[in-house]
Amino acid sequence: MPRETSDCPFKIGNTPLTSLTLAANGLTHEICLKEERFNAFGSIKDRVAWYILSNALAGGKKPSGVIDASSGNYGFALASIGKALDLPVTIVSSASISGFNAEGIRQAGARLILSEPRPGESSNAARMRVAGEIAEREGLLFLDQYNNALNPQCHENWTAPELLRDGPFDACFVAASSGGTARGFMDYLSATQSRTGLVLVEPGGSKAFAAPDPSHGHTLTIPGYGSGRTSTFAQDVAPPAVIRISDEHVLAAAVHLAANGFPPIGLSSIGVLLGAVKWLETATSAMRVGCVCADGAERYSGEMDTRYLPAVDADKLKSASAILGGTLDGLVCQPAPRT
Ligand SMILES: Cc1ncc(COP(=O)(O)O)c(C=O)c1O
Repeated sequence: MPRETSDCPFKIGNTPLTSLTLAANGLTHEICLKEERFNAFGSIKDRVAWYILSNALAGGKKPSGVIDASSGNYGFALASIGKALDLPVTIVSSASISGFNAEGIRQAGARLILSEPRPGESSNAARMRVAGEIAEREGLLFLDQYNNALNPQCHENWTAPELLRDGPFDACFVAASSGGTARGFMDYLSATQSRTGLVLVEPGGSKAFAAPDPSHGHTLTIPGYGSGRTSTFAQDVAPPAVIRISDEHVLAAAVHLAANGFPPIGLSSIGVLLGAVKWLETATSAMRVGCVCADGAERYSGEMDTRYLPAVDADKLKSASAILGGTLDGLVCQPAPRT
């Protein structure tokens, strides 16, 4: 039985909602950003790391160490929690991990291993394989977040009810990497027979929940935004609505928003926001929507010019900037409500 999230000794959960208005086609919509960057270790994956680890440790003998695969944020959170609990942690990631997360994992005293995909293998699958092999060889406890039902369950029992408590929303928007957030929200919304729709936002090259659609870009250059592997949690569930936002659009919007004093949300969160804006542009009545913003801009800002911007086509980036400028200027942050 999963532990109560109220037992969590770290400042994880109860993250704030930031409200924006969007003027489109003569309508004014409200977009609420669920800012997961305010969790203790800076991302939505703090919830999953604590949820899986605390359940794995509950009632049993303390293992000699734990290991798991991660695109970065989960690894950072698990390493930080392991440090606080005096538990050795090994993280298996990929060359795409952000410098911020790689350094954070090492500074927390954890071991970081970068896995190399075999021909035809996604980087996500390579991480899982290597983590499993090392766990076996060294007798470590493999938490296996990409296959562990506690990953979506964490969001079904914790993140989704927390966001929906501040509803009603016409729709919620999430990004997928492991697919845990998306599946957890699907399960919560269906179990509560909610009228809120769920929309997954992915780059064209991602196949986390649906076949890739290269007409909306094919690159997967942003950590945690889309996946080259079909999510384990996409099985036995009706395919969700998917909106495609390319890496070029995310990066063009990130540059524009940073220059205009927008809340410093991370890159996958900007993808999610653009997905919500695209959806609202076709709405025929005023809507209120929620966007799950997985992390903050600090994880990317040090590498924007050296890594993320050079990784995409310069002409596509330029045309994305031209298309997005006017739309994004229509987004206005509302003053925080008085308490
Ligand atoms: C930046 C970022 N956004 C979104 C996600 C999506 O989370 P999930 O693994 O639940 O699909 C992740 C997960 O690692 C992430 O790091």
